Amino acid sequence: MASSGENEETLLPFTLSRFQVSEDYGFLLPNPLPAAAGTPSGCPEGRGSAGPRCSRGSLWQMPQLSAGDLSGREELHLAHLVLSFLTMGYLWQEGEEGAVKVLPRNLAVPFWEVSQRLGLPPILSHADFVLANWKRKTPGRPLEIENLDPIISLPGGESLRGFILVTLLVEKAAVPGIKAIAQAINALLQLDEETLHKALQQLAGAVGDMSKALRRMHDYVDPAVFYSVIRIFLSGWRDNPAMPHGLVYQGVSEEPLAYSGGSAAQSSVLHAFDELLGIRHSAESTAFLHRMRDYMPPPHRAFVEEIQRAPSLRQHVLSSGNGKLCAAFNQCVSALTDFRTHHIAIVTKYITTAAAKAKAGRGEPADGAGPPPGKPPSLLEAKGTGGSHIFRFLKSVRDTTREGMISA
Ligand code: HEM
Repeated sequence: MASSGENEETLLPFTLSRFQVSEDYGFLLPNPLPAAAGTPSGCPEGRGSAGPRCSRGSLWQMPQLSAGDLSGREELHLAHLVLSFLTMGYLWQEGEEGAVKVLPRNLAVPFWEVSQRLGLPPILSHADFVLANWKRKTPGRPLEIENLDPIISLPGGESLRGFILVTLLVEKAAVPGIKAIAQAINALLQLDEETLHKALQQLAGAVGDMSKALRRMHDYVDPAVFYSVIRIFLSGWRDNPAMPHGLVYQGVSEEPLAYSGGSAAQSSVLHAFDELLGIRHSAESTAFLHRMRDYMPPPHRAFVEEIQRAPSLRQHVLSSGNGKLCAAFNQCVSALTDFRTHHIAIVTKYITTAAAKAKAGRGEPADGAGPPPGKPPSLLEAKGTGGSHIFRFLKSVRDTTREGMISA
């Protein structure tokens, strides 16, 4: 096993804690603060798990908040979570045709300040929607869907709850795989083939478990509610024809600013796996995916970049002539390809088929989901909330993953 030498000093030992990645929770914020403590209060009707249903008028009357008193990662994430949900509720409550172009100063200024302190953009991202948005119903009990609730919601009732929590379960299923990354890199640097082999097997198992978790979307999320009620609230103001010029953050910038909406493309999990396995996507897909990294908490982005800097696992497996290692490596690539194939099936059901049904008038959301905000969001039919051209992008990413296989 040949060692690359280069970068070893900075990489060894490769630990998760250096990047605010948890051994138990992975990229999830461990034990987020509940909404009551240290939260900047929004409009009276908008607090707590019912979510921000503030009328636009009441948001204009909100007192000017300051981020100055907030301290610690948990308080800042909670503030970002609440301000991002209030912003999305404020903007999209009348649907894509009723979107406003200006975010009032009393929301825009604290949102900007908290975002600067966290190194996150001033918009709802995966880090808010999923990573920092969960609480146990009974403390001490396991992280299972029955024992979980989001801290804060938007319209969409049980389907919104399911969408957030199933995504959280995918993040949780990834944790052994994230730990395996650290083990694999350390083993690669220490020329320990046995540990490397075990780490790759663990990674393949974790990706398989992520696919199982992803399938639970079918049990918990109604496609009509997802398409007609939930999706618009995740939309951004970059590459979105409903807001072609972006959003003016009053008191922050007179020029409109453009940000992509929330998407699990901003989850660090697949970025990290791709980097470890040396998966190379097309230039167009890479440009989009790298832009999504700007929406990750900076320590998690640094984690992904550190994996990128490590000696090439792929090159090592190729040159090792070790059949066992090669098979384990290919199991990882194959599990990742399968995950992406399942994901494409989910996107087809929840966006393409749901859009066709909504157009044909057969896609009425079930009771309890709340009314759709305006007409179904037709402008985003072919685009993801992150702004990508959905199927061209997703299929290209899946196919280039498959090409990462090593032939014996
Ligand atoms: C109803 C469920 C879901 C829908 C409709 C959906 C939709 C999409 C769309 C449209 C994109 C394209 C990028 C964009 O512009 O946003 C995307 C990308 C992505 N989504 Fe999802 N998604 C769902 C659930 C999930 C879950 C639970 C995960 C797992 C954490 C996930 C992981 C990803 C990843 C990693 C990408 C980037 C492409 C890739 O690396 O393969 N998605 N998703």
